[in-house]
Amino acid sequence: MSPQSPTPSADTAVSAGDDPRCVPIKLTGPIPIGDEIRYPNYTAEQHDVWRTLFSRQKKLLAGRAADEFISGLTALRLDEEYVPALAEISRRLTKATGWKLARTPGLLDAHDFFEHLARRIFPCTDYVRARSELDYTPAPDCFHDIFGHTPMIMHPRFANFYQKIGQAALNARGADDEGLTRIYWFTVEFGLINNPKGRRIYGNGIISSHAETQFSLTDKVEKRPFIPENVAAQPYDIWHMQETLFVIDSFEQLEQEFDRWSREHHLL
Ligand SMILES: [Fe+2]
Repeated sequence: MSPQSPTPSADTAVSAGDDPRCVPIKLTGPIPIGDEIRYPNYTAEQHDVWRTLFSRQKKLLAGRAADEFISGLTALRLDEEYVPALAEISRRLTKATGWKLARTPGLLDAHDFFEHLARRIFPCTDYVRARSELDYTPAPDCFHDIFGHTPMIMHPRFANFYQKIGQAALNARGADDEGLTRIYWFTVEFGLINNPKGRRIYGNGIISSHAETQFSLTDKVEKRPFIPENVAAQPYDIWHMQETLFVIDSFEQLEQEFDRWSREHHLL
């Protein structure tokens, strides 16, 4: 899940058009959290799409995904063969960082989404994209949300930062709101980090995309140091692969710098 259309990484000018999956949902009541989440009746085809996505993306991670992402993925012990149960993932997240999953029916209204993050709850989809959408889907599905987002929430510093993004977003208006949305975009979805063995990906918009995972670390992409003021001033285009990305040195830096920026803007 993301506050914007969350799988924007195909390098094609696809329009969300009237796809109902792209219309944010305004909640009218609570959604199931943790052990309240029922496991859906997936078809064999849906499990197979999950298996295909998982295996081909996993092959790309070595030397590209951040050490912290791979540690989180390993610790979560996600089922590669069958779509995992959100309730089970939620229990593992709670043990590691105190986060929980909630089952969302689709792309949430931004306020509803951030309101959950502020309480250390990640709204997660549980449906699987169609086989025709292996490379691109205009709205979140559970591969994007589970494979891409939950491993980073296992990291204590990232988990703190993610909650602060939610808390700050609830207070942001006007230019601050736009700045915060850009910071979300260039970190949670499209962030890079300097690991000891080189530059790596931690952003899920990249990690859950086959094409962008390969593109993002090439010289075609300008890499800039993570300075919140610069990130907040950087526009982005959700319909094409990102040509400018921001690189953090550590998740401590990410949390501390975001904290500073938010306090200076009276958002925390
Ligand atoms: Fe996302």
